This record gives sequence, C-alpha cells and structure tokens, in this order.
Amino acid sequence: MKPPTHQGWWARQPLRRKLILVAVAAVVVIGLAVGLGVGLTQGGSNGSSPSSVPSSAPSSSTTVPPAQPSSTNKPTWTPSVNSTWQIVLQDPLDLSTSATTITPDVSIYDIDLFTNSKDTITTLHKLNKKVICYFSAGSYEPNRPDASNFTSADKGATLDGWPDEKWLDLNSTNVRNIMAARIQLAADKGCDAIDPDNIDGYQNNNGLNLTPADSISFLTFLSTAALTHNLSMGLKNAGDIVPTVLPLAQFSVNEQCVNYAECESFAPFITAGKPVFHIEYPSDAPNLMRSDLNKYCGTSGDASGSLGFSTVLKKMSLDGWVEFCNGVTATTGTGGS
Ligand SMILES: *[C@@H]1O[C@H](CO)[C@@H](O)[C@H](O)[C@H]1NC(C)=O
Ligand SMILES: *[C@@H]1O[C@H](CO)[C@@H](O)[C@H](O)[C@H]1NC(C)=O
Ligand SMILES: *[C@@H]1O[C@H](CO)[C@@H](O)[C@H](O)[C@H]1NC(C)=O
Ligand SMILES: *[C@@H]1O[C@H](CO)[C@@H](O)[C@H](O)[C@H]1NC(C)=O
Repeated sequence: MKPPTHQGWWARQPLRRKLILVAVAAVVVIGLAVGLGVGLTQGGSNGSSPSSVPSSAPSSSTTVPPAQPSSTNKPTWTPSVNSTWQIVLQDPLDLSTSATTITPDVSIYDIDLFTNSKDTITTLHKLNKKVICYFSAGSYEPNRPDASNFTSADKGATLDGWPDEKWLDLNSTNVRNIMAARIQLAADKGCDAIDPDNIDGYQNNNGLNLTPADSISFLTFLSTAALTHNLSMGLKNAGDIVPTVLPLAQFSVNEQCVNYAECESFAPFITAGKPVFHIEYPSDAPNLMRSDLNKYCGTSGDASGSLGFSTVLKKMSLDGWVEFCNGVTATTGTGGS
C-alpha cells in the first residue's frame, strides 16, 4: 500500500551520482569559460579545481561508520538469497484456516501487519511459508488503529502522491513508542520479520528537516526493537545509506531500482548473503510483454547490479497479481481478514 514516492529524477539520484554530475557540470562550465577567453585568474582556477568537488565533499555513505543494533539477540529466521516471494498490501489475504495451498507457492509472503489476522499468519506457517509484516514506520496513515496516538508535532509534510500520509519525526520519542508497539504486535501475531516503510524521509520534502543521520538513528532503534522479539528486519529502499545500515537489516525490500538504474546500491546485500526483494511496476501490468521481462529481469544496462535479486513484477496497487521473471503469473486471493 506504500509505494514509490513520485519524485523528480534529480531527487532520486544517489548523493555520489549528484556529486559526479555537479563536478562534470563544473568542468564543462569552466571549460567553456576558458575556451571563450573569459578571464579566469590563475588563483581562481587553482582554488576551485572542479576535480576537488567529488573528492572533498563528504558522502553520508562513506563517512559514517556502520551502525550496529544494541541487542545481542539473533533473529529466529533470516531469509536466503534467491528466495521466492510475493507481496500483497492492498487488501488482506483471503486464506481460510483449513486451506491446504496458496497461490503462488513461493516461500515468503510480505503482507500488511494490521489488516491480516493472526489466523492468516498461522495458516501461512502451516503451509510452510515465512511471513514478513509490512507497516509504515516513517509516515502517518490516518486509517490505522493507532493513528490517534500521534501528536501534531510528530507530523511533517504530506507525502508526494499520497495526500492522506504525512512524514513523521523519526527522533520523536512518541513516534518511536508507537513503532515499538507495532513491532510488539508483529511478534504477537507471529510474523517472522518486519518491513518498515518510509524510513527515507531525508530524500523527500518532509517538512521536518530530516537528515540521513536521523534515518540511521531510527533504523538502529527499529532493528533493536525487532531483535528484542527475535524478528528479522528489512531495509526499505534508502540506497544511499546502505553501506552504513547494512548490519542492521537481514534483507532489502527495493522498489524500482531498475527503473531508476540504481540496483548497484543494493548489491552489497547480496555480497553479504542477504536477499534483495525487488519490485518493479511495469506500466502495462498485468499484460506484460517479453520486452518487460528483458528490461526488469536482466542484469545489465539499467538492471546492472541486480544479479541474485528476488524480482517480482507488480501493479502499483500491490494487489494479488504478480508476474515472475520466468513469465509465470499468479493471483493471490484477497479480501479476507
Ligand atoms: C531470542 O533469542 C535469544 C538467543 O539469541 C534467546 O535467548 C531468547 O530467548 C529469544 N527471545 C525470544 C523473545 O524468543
Ligand atoms: C495508544 O497509546 C496508549 C498509551 O501508550 C496505549 O495504551 C494504547 O494501546 C495505544 N493505542 C493503540 C490503538 O495502539
Ligand atoms: C535526531 O537524532 C540524530 C541522532 O541522534 C541526531 O544526529 C539529529 O541531530 C537529531 N535530529 C533532530 C532534528 O533532532
Ligand atoms: C542466485 O541466483 C543467481 C542467478 O541465478 C546465481 O548466479 C547465484 O549464484 C545465486 N546465489 C545464491 C546464493 O544462490
């Protein structure tokens, strides 16, 4: 139910790429100026050498040391690279407690924490599935049962494309208490892992001056709370802080890295033996063409870096329909509780 924020191309670029582009632009501008004979003094061109832009500017991903959870607990379950999965957030699964099969027959289901019952999660376990429970950790959603516990001071700007949702202050003790209660609920319902969404407010107009450091601090808090219950945690998107927060997460949940040509940012998960649960939203879903599979399931061009990712092709609504990279399609039944 949460989705890709609809940002401009520039806003989506990783910090390192922005610095490189700025440096290239600076070289071009200075080159033109020199070529046109505009009087650049010797001191001026030495003092602002364009090549110094990328090397001297701090990068959040390389100057911050890796974060560690403050819990020595180990997650009871950690997913493997190349695991198969399905994600359905629009509606709860329609899964009778006497069900003996579920479609598709993948090993992991990522479903909404609030709308799915404990019975549904118990039934998934009986069917030998693991369950990742989704909730929005960094945005306010007015329709959630605990929505009245947020204060107005907790809430920032409206999410672009999601008029009902507001960015949350990740440093707020109240917000953190509410998220700890949600993680407790995940444990009570029997979830194996959590998928906390919208932890990358720093990449957006959030109205709260959120920084990458705020996200790193918040993710450290979330992972510690998850480990208190021996739950695994995924990192949702947030490609530019991967090097810092990789130790906090047991997997990645990524939206549209091929579409934005940024799969390389998530490849360190695979190197660390942690899966990347990768979603793309082809515009012609559910009637995909061979060219969609070639584009989103390849490992070169815009898909460079995605080797070993667990890719699903979905509609933006994240309903029960899914297509896998082998061209197999399935529709999970929804509408139960
Ligand atoms: C979590 O795992 C630790 C061992 O890593 C164990 O001692 C503890 O009882 C477990 N806690 C829960 C809540 O299952
Ligand atoms: C709201 O917060 C109170 C106080 O912490 C808590 O008792 C209550 O369960 C919360 N409400 C919901 C719906 O989670
Ligand atoms: C939030 O906490 C982080 C880490 O403790 C800190 O670096 C940052 O300055 C805080 N931000 C705000 C807005 O209070
Ligand atoms: C995952 O799948 C890819 C592509 O088939 C393969 O190259 C890789 O070795 C697999 N990795 C693991 C850990 O199974």
